Amino acid sequence: MFVIPTHRRPLNSFRLDRAMTTQPSPNRKSLPLLLLSVAFLALFSGAADASVKTTQAPLQHVQINMLDKVALQNGALYTLHTCTACHALQGERYSSLPSVLGLSKARFLKIIGTNGRHYHDTMATNMPPALMKKFTSIIPPDLTDIARRHSPSWLYTYLTSFYVDPSRPSGVNNVVFHNVAMPDIFAGLQGLQKPVTVEGLRYGSPARIAVGVKPLTAGSMTKAQFDHTAKDIVTFLYAVAHPHQQERSRLGPWIIGLFLALSVLTYFIYKLYWSRVITSDKRWWRVGR
Ligand code: HEC
Repeated sequence: MFVIPTHRRPLNSFRLDRAMTTQPSPNRKSLPLLLLSVAFLALFSGAADASVKTTQAPLQHVQINMLDKVALQNGALYTLHTCTACHALQGERYSSLPSVLGLSKARFLKIIGTNGRHYHDTMATNMPPALMKKFTSIIPPDLTDIARRHSPSWLYTYLTSFYVDPSRPSGVNNVVFHNVAMPDIFAGLQGLQKPVTVEGLRYGSPARIAVGVKPLTAGSMTKAQFDHTAKDIVTFLYAVAHPHQQERSRLGPWIIGLFLALSVLTYFIYKLYWSRVITSDKRWWRVGR
């Protein structure tokens, strides 16, 4: 081992030594204080945990297929013609959509379009933030961020579970997003809905919690049609939020296959290599025996 002679020790280590010997150890002095704070934390963290208990509404499970081009195209139509009135999707550019949607550039521009923007722009919203703040008191979040944060089932449940709530400024509330500021933009397609409530806890206090919805008025779509549309929107949102997902699923099996083939090759190279190495009992000079 390499040992530094004491007379040549670096200056820093002398300083460190002196500091350690002359100053009282801070740990010893603050030990009672530390124990006291741990006791307080233990006491109050339990209380804090109990106070934030809220009854969770069950999610409606949805299985999306990001290779389903028809679903993606339908979702893109709704999202880029409805949601971008308020939300941006700036994690992605219009120019990367044709390959995701399985359309040519010309067909994409004809059917879906770029909302008056340049083809290579990110998907911004046309709503000025100040005006949006006036409408809904909040700037709607970017949907590519949102789709990365939530599961498809959460997004699907959110989109299908707006219900009438006269106590809210927008007249609606949402099962998975209590006191949501987004208006029910699907009222025309889906119709209005009323909540299915149970006795539960909201932030620790007893309250009636909405855990589902029931139809109140009919919309222009049947339930099955609307649910399908919501699923298509979720598929599209998820695809633009995870732009390399399709490429990853396509390449994945090839990459795993490549590694398997390499493992077999390396095994044979290993065998070949060791077959030529002379082991100690085959050596005529027998070192150490
Ligand atoms: C009229 C404006 C408006 C339109 C149109 C709109 N939204 Fe919203 N949306 C909002 C606002 C405002 C919020 C913020 C809600 C809040 O934080 O209380 C929001 C929130 C959301 C959230 C939840 C975000 C979170 O914080 O978890 C999702 C998901 C969402 N919108 C999806 C959509 C989709 C999909 C569409 C199109 C089908 C759409 N929105 C259309 C205004 C709008």
